[in-house]
Amino acid sequence: MELIDGKKINAEVKAEIAKEVEKIIANGGKRPNLAVILIGEDGASATYVGSKIKTCHEVGFESTDVKFPESVSEDEVLAKITEINNNPNIDGLIVQLPLPKHISEHKIIEAIDYKKDVDGFHPVNTGRMAMGLPSFLPATPAGIVELFRRYNIDTEGKNCVVLGRSNIVGTPMGLLMSRKATPGNATVTICHSRTKNLKEVCANADILIAAIGQCEFVTADMVKEGAVVVDVGIHRVKSDKTKSGWKLLGDVKFDEVAPKCSYITPVPGGVGPMTIISLLKNTLLAAQGKIYRK
Ligand code: GUN
Repeated sequence: MELIDGKKINAEVKAEIAKEVEKIIANGGKRPNLAVILIGEDGASATYVGSKIKTCHEVGFESTDVKFPESVSEDEVLAKITEINNNPNIDGLIVQLPLPKHISEHKIIEAIDYKKDVDGFHPVNTGRMAMGLPSFLPATPAGIVELFRRYNIDTEGKNCVVLGRSNIVGTPMGLLMSRKATPGNATVTICHSRTKNLKEVCANADILIAAIGQCEFVTADMVKEGAVVVDVGIHRVKSDKTKSGWKLLGDVKFDEVAPKCSYITPVPGGVGPMTIISLLKNTLLAAQGKIYRK
C-alpha cells in the first residue's frame, strides 16, 4: 500500500506556479489577480477563503478580497460580479459557497464571466468539460486527476466508482474519469442515495472515489483487494487523543481500508491540499489566456 501524498504534490505544483509568475513578471507582465467574494459569517467558509488568499500571495498572485454581510441583496452581489467581470486587472473570480438562502446559487454562478470562472462552475465550463473542450476544471476533481497523473496511476479501462453526484465533485469527477484522456478512459459508475447494491458496486471498483459526505462510510468489505481509494470527505470529530480535542476523518474508514489498497489518499493530507492549488492553477491559466484567449 502506498499513501498518496497530497502535501508533497501541492508543494510541487505550487513551486511550478510561482516559477511561472516570476517568468510573467520578468517579461514585463502583471501578476495574476484572483477575486474572492465571501458572503456572511460562516466560519468554515471564512477559513477556506483565508487559505485561498494566503496561498495566492505565497505564489506571487494579487488577490481582490470582497466581503458582504449575510443581509446583502442578490442585486448588490450581481452588481459586484459585473464590476469584476469588467475589470481587466482581475483574471479570476469565485464566489464562496454555500450562499445565504435568499440568494440564488445558479443566478450568481451564471453571472460570472465564464472566462474568469476559475471554479469551473459556470454552465459554459461544465458543458465544454463534458464535450472534452478546453475549460476551467472544478478544483477538487482537477486535483484528484493531478494526483493520478503524478503518481502514474493507470486509469485506462479501469472500473471507476464515484460515490456522490454533487455538481462540485461527483458529477465532474465522473466526466473527467470517462473522457478520452490520460488520466481518463475509465469505465465510470456514479453512485448516489438511490443506488441499489451499493456495497457490491463499490467492491467491484479498481478505483473508488468517495465524495458522499458521510463520515467513514466506506468500510473494508466495500473495497476490492488492490484498489485505488480516493477520499474526498472532511469531517471534524471530537477526539480525546489530540491536543486540540478534535480530529479530521474522511468518507473512508482508513485504518481498515488502507491495508487492502494499492494506493490511498489520507485525510488530512490527501485530496485537501490539492483543491486550493488547482484553483490557483486555473487562475494562472486564466491570466495567461491559455483556456480562453484574452
Ligand atoms: N465551497 C466549497 N467548495 C467550494 C469551491 O470549490 N468553490 C467555491 N466557490 N465554494 C466552495
